[in-house]
Amino acid sequence: MSRTVVITGATSGIGRAVARELAGRGDRLVLAARSPATLAEVRDECRAAGAAVLVVPVDVTAPGAVAGLADAAEAEFGGIDVWVHTAAVMAYGRFDEVPAEAFEQVVRTDLLAAAEAARVALRRFRAASAGTLILVGSVLGHITAPYMSGYVAAKWGLQGLARALQQEARETPGVRICLVNPGSVDTPVYRQAANYLGRIGRPPPPITTPERVARAIAHCVDRPRREVSVGRLNLFMRFGFTVLPGMYDVLVGPLMRLAGLSRQPVGPHEGILFTPNPLGEAARGGWLPDLPRVVRSVGGATAAAGSAVLRRLR
Ligand SMILES: NC(=O)c1ccc[n+]([C@@H]2O[C@H](COP(=O)([O-])OP(=O)(O)OC[C@H]3O[C@@H](n4cnc5c(N)ncnc54)[C@H](OP(=O)(O)O)[C@@H]3O)[C@@H](O)[C@H]2O)c1
Repeated sequence: MSRTVVITGATSGIGRAVARELAGRGDRLVLAARSPATLAEVRDECRAAGAAVLVVPVDVTAPGAVAGLADAAEAEFGGIDVWVHTAAVMAYGRFDEVPAEAFEQVVRTDLLAAAEAARVALRRFRAASAGTLILVGSVLGHITAPYMSGYVAAKWGLQGLARALQQEARETPGVRICLVNPGSVDTPVYRQAANYLGRIGRPPPPITTPERVARAIAHCVDRPRREVSVGRLNLFMRFGFTVLPGMYDVLVGPLMRLAGLSRQPVGPHEGILFTPNPLGEAARGGWLPDLPRVVRSVGGATAAAGSAVLRRLR
């Protein structure tokens, strides 16, 4: 059965992978983010896969913007069946060195805009007695790490919000709320993040692909679940954080500096907190090898070497 699905954060990373995943299934897609040029690129990719697509350039932190997005979706497709909210930003730095407006923009985008999306979507779903809201949280909604305080605060807030909404939704059969919590994912979010720390962030291993998270989200579209964790170490980290908090706190700083920060230096900048950077947007972040490309280059090099040997033998 095809559905109308609104996807925020559709120009990059997980949101873009979700758009591609759902495009091939005949769903009607409403793609939203701030960059009109990248939205047009993703629209073309999804149309090529057979989907009907509407793009709506929108800043989810602007007053009334999310309601405008819902109105545009309903005007085009007559209703909304699923809302997938992935839009988010990050800022690296010690809490006291991150400008207050940067911290607040992270919370505004990652928590308050998600709450606004939930409000707008749930009002419509409740009126229709049907609909699925999928919020994208993080394993950092269950554990903490230094130098990401705004993001951690927002994701813990989102965790609590999702749970409270799930409890309220028990009164409205047909309305479902899912929280998808990825671990480390190979997306552009780390390089696009604001930075007041001096070193570019990176996803600590094990790193998963945005396509894997997108499949988990697509699965929730078909079979909504309360919470889905994507990442091999998520449960292990939650266990350490909860059961051995003292040891966790001793280890997390050194581990973050070793595995969660690259060696690349960077001056203070506000990343995409307030304005998008279309040049940095893609499905993948470049932290994992692009296997098809590796296979192509190894195949090409082997073929070239083989024909050189044959020429010599002849
Ligand atoms: N990557 C990871 O390792 C990881 C791990 C755990 C959880 N997550 C979560 O997964 C979700 C997606 O992250 P990602 O890694 O895919 O990030 P990403 O590649 O940086 O994509 C973020 C998306 O959000 C959009 N966005 C940012 N601010 C916006 C605003 N004010 N209004 C509208 N759109 C906005 C961006 O588009 P524009 O800039 O064009 O607006 C972009 O499409 C987030 O909720 C993130 O917290 C990611």
